[in-house]
Amino acid sequence: MFDFKIHADDKATMYRDLASALEGLVAGEPDSIANMANAAALIYETLPDVNWVGFYRNIDGELVLGPFQGRPACIRMSFDQGVCGAAAKTRQVQRVEDVHVFPGHIACDSASNSEIVVPLIRDGELLGVLDIDSPRSARFTEEDEAGVVKLAEILTRIV
Ligand code: SME
Repeated sequence: MFDFKIHADDKATMYRDLASALEGLVAGEPDSIANMANAAALIYETLPDVNWVGFYRNIDGELVLGPFQGRPACIRMSFDQGVCGAAAKTRQVQRVEDVHVFPGHIACDSASNSEIVVPLIRDGELLGVLDIDSPRSARFTEEDEAGVVKLAEILTRIV
């Protein structure tokens, strides 16, 4: 059993502890599905006010659903669709305060109101994206973005 309950009063400490727990959880495991599954579970359990955490993998230029926590989600997206597609196409973090005004947003869970999507890039290759959704508008701040980008740096090594 893994017990990675993270309690921290401030976000910087929380993301530092989360990154260190993630490193420990995936250490020595080469299987990317196992690592993505455990990463999604760890992030979902740790971050407050999130309703979906998971991966879309770049399979031949299309985003295909990977391991996640949350409600069942759309399976395939092109790079021209959704917040995930925008992150894949631009290779830039997409931090969306209100998904309802994002052109082309795909509502997999009507409870989602804000979202952050981070591209996972290794040696110039887009592996996929990490997608985190929240029912709270403007849930993700610059500090969250910095923390999630650090998690993505770990993930690009192990997915
Ligand atoms: N909202 C996403 C689609 C994926 S689900 O939220 C899990 C998007 O527009 O990219």
